[in-house]
Formats: sequence, structure tokens, C-alpha cells
Amino acid sequence: MSACSAQSGQAFVRLSKVGKSFRVEGGTIEVLCNISIEVADRQFISILGPSGCGKSTLLMMLAGLEPVSAGSIEIGGQSMRTPRRDVGVIFQDPTLLPWKSALENVLFPIEIFGLPFAKYQARAEALLELVGISDARHRRPRQLSGGMRQRVAICRALIHEPKLLLMDEPFSALDAITRDELNVTLLDIWERHHQTAFFVTHSIREAVFLSDRVVVLGGWPGQVVLDVAIPFARPRDLNIGESVDFNRICGELRRAIAENHARRVAD
Ligand SMILES: Nc1ncnc2c1ncn2[C@@H]1O[C@H](COP(=O)(O)OP(=O)(O)O)[C@@H](O)[C@H]1O
Ligand SMILES: [Mg+2]
Repeated sequence: MSACSAQSGQAFVRLSKVGKSFRVEGGTIEVLCNISIEVADRQFISILGPSGCGKSTLLMMLAGLEPVSAGSIEIGGQSMRTPRRDVGVIFQDPTLLPWKSALENVLFPIEIFGLPFAKYQARAEALLELVGISDARHRRPRQLSGGMRQRVAICRALIHEPKLLLMDEPFSALDAITRDELNVTLLDIWERHHQTAFFVTHSIREAVFLSDRVVVLGGWPGQVVLDVAIPFARPRDLNIGESVDFNRICGELRRAIAENHARRVAD
């Protein structure tokens, strides 16, 4: 299996020697160091690693919600300093507004950004159709299952046609079957819209199923310990999880995580 970088084309996202420290009582803790990753336009990349290795911190910096402590982040050739409009974010908790319907929640960013509502109404309806919950578009969040709420969150992240989609363990609170379904839905949408996608997860199989490339973070402070290309053709279906190649790649990733985790605990 080959190590890889931005592969073909220009890098759309460029992290150069990124480091992150937090000020805590009694000093600072260094959470991430020397992270250099180049992501080609429209690549689907997963960031994989155990809890506490700095995955969410990395995503927050990409979203412009946390400043970097060292190095730099460039998106579309521009230095990342503040949150950008052409980024969509999905978190583990869908954080829908309880008094708004599914459709109104999807359109909420349009309201916030002051974009022309009428222009996006049809797109919101089409996205809800695409994720299979068109019939539930007038329901409030409490009338939706966890999986349906997360489908609404996916549509909300995509409504303003972002160029970059950032996802932080979006399906990890869901049961295994719903999670599989959501992974398939996400790939279906991504194959139609083809944003550059950053997906953070601690699930090895989820990362391999979804991605063109998986980057493993490990050690303390967190660094890139493995960067591998995932060679499976698209569109993919869940059956690829049974193939020998799929399981071989999962094994390699699992060993990299375990090795670095053991080192971190021993240090
Ligand atoms: N605002 C903060 N202040 C201090 N420490 C933080 C802050 N945010 C995260 N951390 C620490 O940074 C490390 C990485 O956290 P995080 O990025 O949430 O990891 P992951 O998402 O991989 O589980 C953890 O040790 C966490 O306690
Ligand atoms: Mg996290």
C-alpha cells in the first residue's frame, strides 16, 4: 500500500507544520505537532485515531473555529484565519433547532448568511429527498429518529453549496445498522456533489469504507503516523467490507493505531 499526499491536481487544503497547544492551569499542553497534510480538490480523506489524539482539535482549526498555534492552514489558496462560508460542518450531535421543522432547519444557514431564501428552497427539498426523508420535512426534530436528525444535519451542512465538508464523528452516536445506512447515504451525496471531504472518526472500517485516503494520528502530542491510499473503485457498497483487501487495510491501520497508542501510554 502506498503512502500518499494530494495525489492528482492542486491541493485544495494545505496544512503545513500545524501545531496546537492549549493554555491550562499550570502551563500549556501541546496537543498536535508538525501536522502536514495536502488534500486534493474533491478528495475524501478520513482522520483516524483513538479518543484524545486531537482529531476534533484539528477539525476545529480547519473550520476556523480554533486558531493554530504553529504552522499554517490554507484552503483554496487562502490562509485560514476566520470561519469561511464555503465550509459545511457536521458534528456528532445534530444540534437542530427544536422549534423549526426539518426543512426550516436545513434552510437555517441561508437565514444566517442572509442569502436569498427562494433560491435555496428547492435545493433544500431536493437534498431532503436525496437523503430519503422528504415525507418528514415538516416534522420537528423531536418527531424524528436519531438517524433522521443526522440526515437533516447533512442537508443543512450542504445547503449553501460548500466546497469543503468537515465531519466530526457524525454517526458515532447511532446504532450500527443506522450508521451503515448513513455511510451509504453520505457517499451517495458526495458522489453527486463531490466536495472535498474531511471525516474524523475512531472507526477503522468506517474510514476505509468512505475514503480515498486515511491519515492516522497518534502519539503525544498527536502527529501523522500513517497516510494510506484506499484503492477501492466507486461507487462502493457495504459488501466491500467482506473483501480480503478491505480487511488487510483495516489490519494495517489497526496495528499503526495500537503501536502508537502503546507508545503514548508508556511515555
Ligand atoms: N479547549 C481546550 N483546552 C484544553 N485542552 C483541550 C481543549 N480542547 C481539547 N483539549 C485536549 O486536547 C486533547 C485532544 O482533544 P480532542 O481534539 O477533542 O481529541 P479527539 O477528538 O481525538 O478525541 C485532549 O487531551 C483534550 O483534553
Ligand atoms: Mg473528538
